[in-house]
Amino acid sequence: MDILSVLKSRLEIVDDSVTSKELVDRLVARGPLEESLHLTELDTLVKRHYQWLKHLPRVRPFYAIKSNDEPSIVETTILLGCGYDCASTGELKRILGFRVEPERIMFGQPMKTIESLELAKKMKLRTVFDTEDELRKIHQYYPEANVVIRFRLETAEDSLNLGIKFGCEVDVEARELLDLAKELGINVIGWCFNLGHACINPKNFYTGIKKGKALTDYAESLGFKFNLIDLGGGFSGDKDVSIEQYAEQINKGLDEFFPAELGYMIVAEPGRYYSAAAVTAVVPIHGKRFIRSKDNPNDIEKVFYYFNDGIYATFYSAKYRGKAVKPIVWKQLNECGPTRKTTLYGPTCDGIDFFAKDIEMPELNVADFVVFENQGAYSRVHACRFNGFSPPKPVIFVRQSVWALLEEASEGDATKVVQESKYLLENIEFEKLSYASIN
Ligand SMILES: Cc1ncc(COP(=O)(O)O)c(C=O)c1O
Repeated sequence: MDILSVLKSRLEIVDDSVTSKELVDRLVARGPLEESLHLTELDTLVKRHYQWLKHLPRVRPFYAIKSNDEPSIVETTILLGCGYDCASTGELKRILGFRVEPERIMFGQPMKTIESLELAKKMKLRTVFDTEDELRKIHQYYPEANVVIRFRLETAEDSLNLGIKFGCEVDVEARELLDLAKELGINVIGWCFNLGHACINPKNFYTGIKKGKALTDYAESLGFKFNLIDLGGGFSGDKDVSIEQYAEQINKGLDEFFPAELGYMIVAEPGRYYSAAAVTAVVPIHGKRFIRSKDNPNDIEKVFYYFNDGIYATFYSAKYRGKAVKPIVWKQLNECGPTRKTTLYGPTCDGIDFFAKDIEMPELNVADFVVFENQGAYSRVHACRFNGFSPPKPVIFVRQSVWALLEEASEGDATKVVQESKYLLENIEFEKLSYASIN
């Protein structure tokens, strides 16, 4: 079966007029199930792509599938003609299985296993390095590789900066590594950085491009001919953040240091930007506990709710990556109890399996639903077997006009089809969820 037919078998096509809120209502109407539900709206992902093409016309998006590798999401990006950032043998095999050309893949793992390096060699993939040992490993197992050097940007604001873990220091260490690459005869074709997490200061992209320019000049003085720039990931994907703030800094940096006439291939590796807003978690309450005052048992001090989804699945990022949790109570407020200090627990036996503590929420009952927007990135991918709970179940929808667009994209120039879509032009906003008005 072709990708379009496979994708069609996974989803429901709904009328353009169907709202996200109606879709949540439909899932809630099924009543509590064993798993929490991941309402997945592929329209959202396609809209993200449209905005990327509009605001960053020089930057090719290489989707970081680590953020969400759920089949319908990956297949949609394939139909849209995205490139890919892959970090493991498994991700590479998955993407190569779609016959994506090596040109559209960045094997962006700075610490590669030998097996993955052998696969990269077989498929002629480009890859990255940021240490002497990695360079020597590449020299041993894949000496003809085209590689990019990954440097780090140490930024004060970005709380989960991957710079500590990966990336060489840019002013001295990077130059020494280029010297070594020259000596070993390895073809370095460009540079990359990855701001990590959701970059909260878009100016860091400008700074990175500027640092990259100085490194390019040094590399060219050694005789390298750079032709690839990779801006990594770190673009927030929540509904209320737009790509424009990043685009402004990136386009400024590119125009200043790498103008179009120089002919560089420029890519970025957005993960959460594509996947975050596409998924809304629809989660029923399975259990409830009152914590009463020791002095007066009639006095309820707090309430705990227990969900079948927690930090070992959807809410990993809420716990460990600083993602704000914004529960939407799916009930009329006048049908809820009083506002109470509330803690939201996952299902496992682990005492730290909670993802919001002592927040103020109206009181709910077992079988009521709580809804969480922007849960598509670094959520379900973290689901593990611990305690035997089922991973969240994706329930996938796409609006009729977006499905027609994907059909058209599968047959021709996907980029052009998206860029010229009248439907996307007129329907680019994201619906922000809230429950019905309070009576
Ligand atoms: C090398 C690399 N590229 C891209 C990404 C995607 O980041 P994001 O989802 O923040 O865009 C990551 C995430 O860790 C990464 O390590």
